[in-house]
Amino acid sequence: MHYHKILVIGGGLAGLRAAIEATPKADTAIISQVHPVRSHSGAAQGGVNAPLANNPKGRDDTWEKHAYDTIKGSDFLADQDTVEFMTSEAGPCIYEIEHWGCPFSRTEEGKIAQRPFGGAGYPRTCFAADKTGLYMLHTLWERSVKLNIPLYDDRVLVDVVIEGDQCRGVICLNMQTGALEPFMAEAVIFASGGSGQIYARSTNALISTGSAQAAAYRRGVPLKDMEFIQFHPTSLFGTNILMTEGARGEGGYLINSNGDRFMSKYAPNVMELGPRDIVSRSIQTEINEGRGIEDQYVYLDLRHLGREKILERLPGIRDLAMNFVGVDPIEKPVPIQPGQHYTMGGIDTDVDGATKFKGLYAAGECGCVSVHGANRLGGNSLLDTVVFGKRSGAVAAQYVSSKVDEKQGEAAVMKCLKDTRERIDALLARKGSENHADIRNEMRETMFLNVGIFREKTAMETGLAKIRELKERYRDISVQNKGRQYNVDLVRAIELEGMLDVAEAIVVGAVKREESRGAHSRLDFKERDDENFLKHTIAVFTSEGPEITYSPVKITKHKPVARRY
Ligand code: FUM
Repeated sequence: MHYHKILVIGGGLAGLRAAIEATPKADTAIISQVHPVRSHSGAAQGGVNAPLANNPKGRDDTWEKHAYDTIKGSDFLADQDTVEFMTSEAGPCIYEIEHWGCPFSRTEEGKIAQRPFGGAGYPRTCFAADKTGLYMLHTLWERSVKLNIPLYDDRVLVDVVIEGDQCRGVICLNMQTGALEPFMAEAVIFASGGSGQIYARSTNALISTGSAQAAAYRRGVPLKDMEFIQFHPTSLFGTNILMTEGARGEGGYLINSNGDRFMSKYAPNVMELGPRDIVSRSIQTEINEGRGIEDQYVYLDLRHLGREKILERLPGIRDLAMNFVGVDPIEKPVPIQPGQHYTMGGIDTDVDGATKFKGLYAAGECGCVSVHGANRLGGNSLLDTVVFGKRSGAVAAQYVSSKVDEKQGEAAVMKCLKDTRERIDALLARKGSENHADIRNEMRETMFLNVGIFREKTAMETGLAKIRELKERYRDISVQNKGRQYNVDLVRAIELEGMLDVAEAIVVGAVKREESRGAHSRLDFKERDDENFLKHTIAVFTSEGPEITYSPVKITKHKPVARRY
């Protein structure tokens, strides 16, 4: 059996940052489904927020202003103490990565360049052209190599081992051999990203299946605020590949079929730089009311930015638009529509990333430390990964070094391995008539259509009934490929079971939240209702479906007010 004091599940930004922090203090290894530089963090384009005040228009920016923008952006559902922690750590965390070699774009003075982003009062999004996540990922990966952090890649998380109130390790499927592998540890940090693949029209990578959320949830860790799903305003029509918010930060326009910059109607003071929930709803309203093109998309128009600026600041999305829809943004407007982009909710943690079980932590998109609330600001997800990855790594290292009884979990890990093996063998042996790929597609369409940008009770209840029907049908699937090595058919089937559970938690939380807040926009409850719903949704797994309770939002300084832009 593999043993490390700390196991980090996920090789993206949160996972790498956690492992880099923990390694000097405790033996730490990374387990990842893909090679770290292929993690979904690499798809993040436009930048990472920090109040560095490098842009001439942002000289008096402060971490307190960043905190307020984040809290207002969250529609006051974020926990204000954790937001204050994140924004006060932002500057030091970015300079740290800069010193490790991240090639950020530069101002004329040679400082880290910063561009405007939606919902932000100041230009505070640090960027490396439009490939910020990729450059940060490579920087942290190189650092992890320098520190000789062991990596187990091609490993799919199948279960987490909980014994009493203690996490003991994980069980993974080794894609290369097909073997189930037991990993024992004193602490496990989940950092394996969100669950965007539950939705159709997602900007997320195929690996964003919420495997850690599902594993933790089924073992008794609550999921928090799952109903808050972010739709990015500008995903490329036809593929839903991200077209960065940085394009609007650099001055890009949104144009409807009449040629109008329609954001003047919805957010007249900030136009295209409204927060994502508002801009996505505005685009969808234009399309729904017949002012879209071919009833399906609107245009992101960058032509007025000029060739030089597009080549310098936005070369990545230019390539994507040319390669995937044959449009060169220097010459033509780009067809875009909102696409599912981010899960604000996740595994319920405190500010240290700690869950209800000793030794189990979560950081980054799979967790919910409550900094994004009901709507995340663009540029705050990369920040979340490095700030809370670092924090969870430090806290986990401290925890394992203070532990007196080590290597206590062997029997629990071996029992979980045996149960998992029986479960996977049974799955492979099934001769059911259902195709799991069909079930996955139906789930994704159902979530997009019934629990999407605009929501209402009847549609969501129809969606919930459908998800429950799919869960039933899942029992009758068969896996066609009975082999062991690189059996992607099997992996997809394993993932789907967890995705259906997570989808159910999203819908049930959404039905019960009878208000509109941030990305949760209900046509039947159009107003925010602080009296009844200024609280976090807590979903606890039961075999009958999620049991929902609520927990208070931490308010430090900012009483909720109407959100206007
Ligand atoms: O639009 C973007 O570049 C995405 C950034 C983010 O999700 O934070």
